[in-house]
Amino acid sequence: MTEFRVKPGGHLRGRIRVPGDKSISHRAVMLTSVANGTGRIHGLLTGRDVMATARAFQAMGVDMEFGDGGTLSIRGVGRFGLRAPEGDLDLGNSGTAIRLLAGLLCGQRFESRLVGDESLSRRPMKRVTDPLGEMGANIDTSEDGTPPLAIHPVDTLAGIRYRLPVASAQVKSALLLAGLYAEGPVCVSEPAPLRDHTERMLAGLGVRVDVEGDWICVTAGDLVAADIHVPGDFSSAAFFTVGGLIAPGSELTMTHVGVNPTRTGLLQVLREMSGDIRLENERLVAGEPVADLVVRSSTLTGVDIPPEVVPLAIDEFPIICVAAALAEGTTRIRGAGELRHKESDRIHAMAVGLETLGVDVEESEDGLIIRGRDELGGGTVDSFTDHRIAMAFSIAGLRAGASVTVLNTGNVATSFPDFEARARELGLGLTATERS
Ligand code: S3P
Repeated sequence: MTEFRVKPGGHLRGRIRVPGDKSISHRAVMLTSVANGTGRIHGLLTGRDVMATARAFQAMGVDMEFGDGGTLSIRGVGRFGLRAPEGDLDLGNSGTAIRLLAGLLCGQRFESRLVGDESLSRRPMKRVTDPLGEMGANIDTSEDGTPPLAIHPVDTLAGIRYRLPVASAQVKSALLLAGLYAEGPVCVSEPAPLRDHTERMLAGLGVRVDVEGDWICVTAGDLVAADIHVPGDFSSAAFFTVGGLIAPGSELTMTHVGVNPTRTGLLQVLREMSGDIRLENERLVAGEPVADLVVRSSTLTGVDIPPEVVPLAIDEFPIICVAAALAEGTTRIRGAGELRHKESDRIHAMAVGLETLGVDVEESEDGLIIRGRDELGGGTVDSFTDHRIAMAFSIAGLRAGASVTVLNTGNVATSFPDFEARARELGLGLTATERS
């Protein structure tokens, strides 16, 4: 079991490039694998989640060659070129991998079985298997609606018009990917704007994507492999963004970060809290907006976070909670019940950990109320094996009065494999140790 020990205090200074975007990396591997021709992916995240996706496609007969610095060449096998895997496809900790693969594999001519680790094996899958079932897919879940997923081949998949009942980009994406194999268009309407990397990449690889009012439609067709440049992950940059704001004397720049507006709700929240964050050098790279983020320490104030911002910052709530714990006044988070279905129950995990560090926090069904303080206490907090909880509490050490120990941090490698090194380089007093 790995744990992080963080020396209290310090600041973050310097210039770094955070690893590649996890959501875009998964999609790049999946879509290039079923494209025609060879595609080169640059800046790929080589964290465990994306590697699980890559291994799944290798097991289905796709040739891949890993180069330096996150370069991956994939010889696409075409839309109908995947082969039946010999054993289970193990997607580890990754909800994105299992849900998007359910969409992509339910129209194949072979059986597949998707499994995951303990955390993934608790996560809800009916949200994807129900609408895919309406299209004619045949997928079994466990009795509780969780993995493993047994995907049986069917003769045809029909198109669908489906209003998403949950604000989930994974569900939207699973359906759009199934649309590559459906007889009619697959149209999805989202209850609130959700990350749109799937649509952007499908269109970039030559698939017909139509947006009609609030409907996004995919029509089946071949994909043409292309070079894909993956920007830095805004959700990984988020930890150092908040670290820089809360630690006096900080000034840091994170280069080449993806700033797709469906991902940057955190900027809106932190700016409303009076955070000094600037975007420089804004540009479009391979269809995705990219910028350098410049962060300076700031005195933060509490805010009411409106429910409509939640999907735009869904992965950033652990670190938002840390910002709130060190802001003047009260922060209220509502309409965020989805956080209970992530790699851990993130509402509970943050409430328990913050309380340990001396914060006045109230947990509700769909959010938290956090009363900020000047400094946190030290202590030992559990990450509940959740990468984002682990990183959030490590950053909290910057404004703690005594050292903070974070337990069960091994899964940080799922999204940010060199977090410890990058954090230390910027000035966080973090050491990782193995505990037997
Ligand atoms: C993701 C979508 C989000 C997010 C996850 C990645 C994606 O999940 O939390 O980390 O890549 O589509 P939901 O769509 O389930 O909210």
